[in-house]
Amino acid sequence: MKNTVVTIQQAKENGEKVTMLTAYDYSMAKLIDEAGINMILVGDSLGMVMLGYEDTLSVTMEDMIHHTAAVARGAKNALIVADMPFMSYQTSVYDAVVNAGRLMKEGRAQAVKLEGGREVTEHIRAITNASIPVVAHLGLTPQSLNAFGGFKVQGKSEAAAKKLLEDAIAVEEAGAVAVVLECVPAKLAELISKRLTIPTIGIGAGAGCDGQVLVYQDMLAMFSDFKPKFVKHFAQIGEAMKAAFAAYSEEVKSGVFPAQEHTFKIDDEVIEKLY
Ligand code: KIV
Repeated sequence: MKNTVVTIQQAKENGEKVTMLTAYDYSMAKLIDEAGINMILVGDSLGMVMLGYEDTLSVTMEDMIHHTAAVARGAKNALIVADMPFMSYQTSVYDAVVNAGRLMKEGRAQAVKLEGGREVTEHIRAITNASIPVVAHLGLTPQSLNAFGGFKVQGKSEAAAKKLLEDAIAVEEAGAVAVVLECVPAKLAELISKRLTIPTIGIGAGAGCDGQVLVYQDMLAMFSDFKPKFVKHFAQIGEAMKAAFAAYSEEVKSGVFPAQEHTFKIDDEVIEKLY
């Protein structure tokens, strides 16, 4: 069944959890889609896990369009959400609409995600008015890394918790179809999830959210630069890949690979004429 903003909303109304994983290319999008995951996020986390930057700030619109288009070619049923990269929407409401439009038109995304609360409600409204669904992102918003002074859990004090709740209500009122809550105390995320009618998708925000999202390299133990507390390794694919690469190296060097079944034949008389 094709996932849409309507089915995601219905899932919340029916008390069914929503699943989301990141993907950045065709093959991975196909696997995730075939596993029945509801939503694929082409996250600007690609800056770190695919391109090797130390944060998401250097990711460009061209990077996002390139990877979103590859994911869109691989996914049939998952709802594809593309991240709006740093400075593609903060500069003006006009830029926000133009760049959201490019992610839909050139990248074939089905929704866009942007970071922030009340300060981006005008942007959310304008993008929504252009018939582009918007997923909001609150809590630890990695594009504000320098303003936060590091990657930290958000909303712990009374004032910060109140602000987060008010921001969540504001983005819903502005038209957001869902909201990602990143690194938010579990009880606060649960409260926000109960107050909102749109689904909350948590990452480091506990089980009270309406859905969960993880970066696939994190959940498959393929990214070893650091492991956030909220990550669970569902498989040791990084180690399995390293073992396979080493086995390949060993077989090539020892002459075991390629074997007869991996090679193409030619008639002996054709070859003999060449000697
Ligand atoms: O870029 C990303 O992958 C994200 C998730 C961590 C929610 O925004």
